[in-house]
Amino acid sequence: MERYLLRDDIWWVGAIDWNGRDFHGFETARGATYNAYLILDEKVALVDGCKDGFGPEMLARVRGCCGSRPIDYFVINHVEPDHSGAIPWLIEQLKPGRVFCSKRATDALPLYYGAETVAAWDLQIVNTGDELPLGSKTLQFLEAPMVHWPDSMFTYVKGAKTLLPNDAFGQHLATSKRFADEVDMNIVMEEAARYYANILLPFGGSIQKMLTKIAEMGLEIETIGSSHGVIWRRPEDVAKIIEAYKGWISGRAPERVTLIYDTMWRSTEKMTMAIADGVAQEGVECSVVKLSVSPRSEAAHQILGSRAFLVGSPTLNNGLFPTVAGFLTYIKGLRPKNRIAGAYGSYGWAGGAVKQVDAELRELGLDVLEPMQLKYAPDEAGLAACAELGREVARKVKAMGE
Ligand code: FEO
Repeated sequence: MERYLLRDDIWWVGAIDWNGRDFHGFETARGATYNAYLILDEKVALVDGCKDGFGPEMLARVRGCCGSRPIDYFVINHVEPDHSGAIPWLIEQLKPGRVFCSKRATDALPLYYGAETVAAWDLQIVNTGDELPLGSKTLQFLEAPMVHWPDSMFTYVKGAKTLLPNDAFGQHLATSKRFADEVDMNIVMEEAARYYANILLPFGGSIQKMLTKIAEMGLEIETIGSSHGVIWRRPEDVAKIIEAYKGWISGRAPERVTLIYDTMWRSTEKMTMAIADGVAQEGVECSVVKLSVSPRSEAAHQILGSRAFLVGSPTLNNGLFPTVAGFLTYIKGLRPKNRIAGAYGSYGWAGGAVKQVDAELRELGLDVLEPMQLKYAPDEAGLAACAELGREVARKVKAMGE
C-alpha cells in the first residue's frame, strides 16, 4: 500500500472515499478523503480517525507506516462521524495507551458510541496550550469551538511546524495525490471555496479567532494537514489558502451576480434569462443556477463568489416551488453576509412565492432589493423590466467596490 510522508516522520494514514457524493446535503462531485496523521517519534501518536466503513483502510495504512509499534496516543480532534465513526473499531484494533480530546468532545462521544465503550478508552481532556511530548516533537492543542462543531480542536506539531486543524482548510476531493502542489491548483482552490461555502460559511468569526490565537501563540506554520482533501505542504500554498480564508471571512466577493431559480412552465426561466442579460449589459459577470438540474451546494458556492444573488421561484399552490424552498432552508443555515439579494418569479392568480422568498432574504439581514413578480408568462414589457432589474443589481454590485 502506498505510503505518504508529509515531513519529519508525520505520515498520512487516512482513507479515500472515491464514491462519496453526499455530505449532509453538500453534493461532493469529486468524492472526499478522511485524513488522519501518524506521528512517529519516541512515542507514536495518531491524530484523527475516519468515517465508519473506512477503518480497515486506515488501519492498513497505520500498520504500513509503523509496523507493529504500539500506538501510545490517539487524538480525537472532532467528533463528527466523518472523523469519529470508525474510532471505536480503530481503538479496539490499535489499543492506544491514551486518548485525548476536548472537554466538549467528552459530552458527545458517549452519546454517539455508548458510555460503556467510551469509559474504557482512558480519555484525557486537553485545553488550549496543553502539550504532549513525543520526543523530538511535541503536540500542542488548541480548542477550536465552532470550527466546525463545539468540540472541534486543532493539533499543532511543534518541531515540525505542522498544523492539523481537522475541518479547517479542507476540500472534498478524492485523489491518489496527497499534496496541493501535486494536483491542479485551480481545482484545489475551487473545491476549497465550495467546501468553505457549504461547511464553514457560518463560522467565519470562529475561524478568525483561531487565526488570531495562532498568531498570539507565535505558532509557525509551514504545513497544514486538514482532515479533508489535499495537504498544504509548501509555505506558498499555506499562505494562499490562509489569504483565501481571510477574504471569505471578510465577506468580500468578486464583481459577480448569481441567479438561483427554478421554473414550472418556463416563465420564471424567461425572467431569469432577461435579468442575466441585463447584468451582462452592465459588463458584470452573471452565473445562473437552476435548482432542478444543479445541487443547492453549487448555489451556495456561487453565492460565496458573488456580491449579489437573486432567487427566482414560481408560485405553486400559493407557496414556494419545492426546490426553492429546500434551497432557502439550506442557505438560512449557512447565513451568507454582506450580499445584495432579491426575489423574483412568476405567478398565476394569488401569488405567494416571491413574497416568501423576499421575507426569507430579509430575515437573513441582507441588502434586499424590491421584489419583482409577473403574472403568468412575461410579455415584452415584463422582460424589459427584468432586464432593468439585472442592470440595477449590476450597478449596485459595481458601486460596492473592492
Ligand atoms: Fe469533517 Fe465537521 O466534519
